[in-house]
Amino acid sequence: MKPIEYIAVIGAGLMGHGIAQEFAIAGFSVCLYDVKEETLQQATQRIQGNLKLLSAQGLIPEAVIEPAISHVRTSTNLEEAVHNADYVVEAVTEDLPLKLRLFAELDRLCPEHTILASNTSTFMPSLLADATQRPDRVLVAHYFNPPYLLPLVEVVSCPQTSPETKETTLNLLRQIGKHPVEIHKECPGFVANRLQTALVREAFAIVQEGIASPQELDAVVRNGFGRRLAIAGPFEIGEAAGWDLWRAVAEQILPTLSNNREIPEALEKLVETGAVGIKSGQGFYTWGSEETLSFRQRMAHGLLEMSGWGKKSE
Ligand SMILES: NC(=O)c1ccc[n+]([C@@H]2O[C@H](COP(=O)([O-])OP(=O)(O)OC[C@H]3O[C@@H](n4cnc5c(N)ncnc54)[C@H](O)[C@@H]3O)[C@@H](O)[C@H]2O)c1
Repeated sequence: MKPIEYIAVIGAGLMGHGIAQEFAIAGFSVCLYDVKEETLQQATQRIQGNLKLLSAQGLIPEAVIEPAISHVRTSTNLEEAVHNADYVVEAVTEDLPLKLRLFAELDRLCPEHTILASNTSTFMPSLLADATQRPDRVLVAHYFNPPYLLPLVEVVSCPQTSPETKETTLNLLRQIGKHPVEIHKECPGFVANRLQTALVREAFAIVQEGIASPQELDAVVRNGFGRRLAIAGPFEIGEAAGWDLWRAVAEQILPTLSNNREIPEALEKLVETGAVGIKSGQGFYTWGSEETLSFRQRMAHGLLEMSGWGKKSE
C-alpha cells in the first residue's frame, strides 16, 4: 500500500472544512473541493478562525497555524482535486443519489489505490461501494460536529471493504489524533445517530404528551444526566448505578416509552413551516443574533474545555 500523503476532502461545508483542517494540522497536503468558489473562500476563512481559536486556547502551538493553512489548497475542479489523492473523504450534502453519482465519478477520476471514505450520517457503506468498481476500497468515516473539537470517528465497513482499507483508515485517523471506533456491522445511522435518534424520539413524545416543554426537557438533560454522558457511556453509567436498579427502572418505564416508527407530527410541522432552528431563526426557541452567539459560545467553551481534558490525559 502506497503511504498516504495527499488527501482530498469533497464538500467544504460545516464538516468538510473542519475535516480538511484536521489533516492539515497533522501535516498532510489537502485539497478541499466544492462546487462553488464562494463556499471555498468561506471554508478557508473558517479554517483560519478555528486555528486561531485552538491556538488561543493552548490546544495547538501558534507555530502550527501558518503551515496548516499552507497545506490546504482549494479547487472547483473535481479531476484536479483528486487526480493524485491517496485518500478521499466525501462530505457533501446528505443526499443518496448525489453521493452515489459522486462515488461513481470519484472511482473514475482517482488513482487505483485511492481509498474513498464517506462522512455520511446515515447511509450504509455498501450502497456507496456498489456505485464503484473498487468496493474493497470504500467505507464510512463518520465524524462529529465540530470535527476539530470532537475526537470520535465511527469507522463503518461493509462486507465488500477489505481489511487493509479498514486498517489504513484506523491508522490514519489515529495518526491525526482522532479516536476512531470500529463499528462491526453496517446499519443506517451506525451507533451514535441511532442513540441520538432514540433520545430525540422520546423527547418529542414527552413534549407531545404534555409532560414537559422543550425548554424544560432541555434543562433536565443539561443539568442532569447530560453531564454524566460527557464523561461516561450508558454501560459505564449502568454499572455505576447497578443493573438491579436499572432492571427495576426499565420494568416500570419501558412499557410507556414511544415506539413510534413515523416522523413525529411536531417534527413534520417544524420542517413544513420552515421553523428548522438556528439557521431559520426559529424552532422551539427564537434565535436572534444575540441568542445564537451566546449558544455558540456556550457550546464552543464547553467543547474546548473537554478537548483540554483529552490533552492533559495524553
Ligand atoms: N452537520 C453535522 O453535524 C454532521 C455531522 C456528521 C456528519 N455529517 C454529514 O456530513 C455531510 C456534510 O454535512 P454538512 O453538515 O457539512 O453539510 P453542509 O451543507 O454544511 O455542506 C455540504 C457541502 O456540500 C457541497 N456540495 C453539494 N453538492 C456537491 C457536489 N456535487 N460536489 C461537491 N460539493 C457539493 C455544498 O456546496 C456544501 O458546501 C453530510 O453527509 C452529513 O450527513 C454532518
